[in-house]
Amino acid sequence: MHEQPSALIELGKRYWLPVYKPRELVLDHGKGARVWDTEGRDYVDFGAGIAVNALGHQDPDLLAALVAQAHKLWHSSNVFYTEPPLRLAEELVRASGFAERVFLCNSGAEANEAAIKLVRKWAASKGRPPEQRNILTFRGSFHGRTLATVTATAQPKYQAGYEPLPAGFGYADFNNVAALEAAFAAGDIAAVMLEPVQGEGGVLPAAPGFLKRVRELCDQHDALLVLDEIQCGMGRTGTLFAHAHDDVTPDIVTLAKALGCGFPIGAMLAGPKVAEVMQYGAHGTTFGGNPMAAAVARVALAKLASPAVLMNVERQANDLRAGLARINRELPVFAEVRGRGLMIGAVLADAYKGEAGTILDCAAAHGLLLLQAGPDVLRFVPPLTISDEELAEGLTRLHAALNDFVAG
Ligand SMILES: Cc1ncc(COP(=O)(O)O)c(C=O)c1O
Repeated sequence: MHEQPSALIELGKRYWLPVYKPRELVLDHGKGARVWDTEGRDYVDFGAGIAVNALGHQDPDLLAALVAQAHKLWHSSNVFYTEPPLRLAEELVRASGFAERVFLCNSGAEANEAAIKLVRKWAASKGRPPEQRNILTFRGSFHGRTLATVTATAQPKYQAGYEPLPAGFGYADFNNVAALEAAFAAGDIAAVMLEPVQGEGGVLPAAPGFLKRVRELCDQHDALLVLDEIQCGMGRTGTLFAHAHDDVTPDIVTLAKALGCGFPIGAMLAGPKVAEVMQYGAHGTTFGGNPMAAAVARVALAKLASPAVLMNVERQANDLRAGLARINRELPVFAEVRGRGLMIGAVLADAYKGEAGTILDCAAAHGLLLLQAGPDVLRFVPPLTISDEELAEGLTRLHAALNDFVAG
């Protein structure tokens, strides 16, 4: 017998640092794109653990890899070699088409932290003094919660109270070429760091041609292009790497989230300009590249790169958009539906601005796990393997939830 969910939730309220406000249900197990709570209620999962469970829950191949490795070796540190991270690094390099080396870590913030350090080390290796090692990021971005990555995150709400913030970051408006050019004209930019599709900032794709212009300016000014594909990478947009849509070659790409499909792992991929910049002792991690995470990620990478998964992304993205349009014709709650592949944002109409949290409560009450991207945008990032039946059922539940919401 499970304890009453309310008793468990009380533990969280009593003992956790209250930096989160989870919905009041306790999840217990999952299968495919469905999750069950401790009371046996089922939910369709349109959030996938914030774009993490890209192969759904209990994927048999991930499970087999995890169990097999669990019976062999859990951890060795980077003082010794083990096979899974060696193979994973080679497979990531091959899959990327641009990278020469990989640094494995445990989260998105760590991958971006490594990227920021690599940019600075690269600039230092070129003789640039600290004030000429600036990194330009874009308003609405999200790059993590460490002190450096939260500074890269150009959203004041994540930074407030953590001053003094590290120096060396500048911000421009996303998709604004004139602002980008002005920032470069001001000088001293060592890198531009961006998400090809902004996630937390509202599910906003880079405009056509924007990344190409960023790449050109980086080349003209001898700056690096760093792409944060932590949320939009690993097949989410319908291609293994999101930047394939933008037809640019980055210098650094960061991955996490779906790379482990639920087992924590992050990676920084380094292209030819920067692959040899960090040498022995320049960076490190105890857990990064541990054999458990790497064994799982190898399977995740192979499956997420497969035509079967990528074709499903396209098919289900079309169905999800069509379903949202259908709902919106009856209940006009969305001003706009945007995104790429199975990373979709439904922007709330003016009358419902600020109500995303309330809609998420209604969705949970109707058996649907949904996310928001700020107060005005519903975020749909289901497993990339979601089935026709699961997607249709999720849309039915969304429709019911929105009916309740609109009725007040
Ligand atoms: C684009 C992007 N970068 C970085 C991060 C930070 O990743 P983590 O929470 O694993 O540190 C996130 C997390 O939401 C993200 O969406």
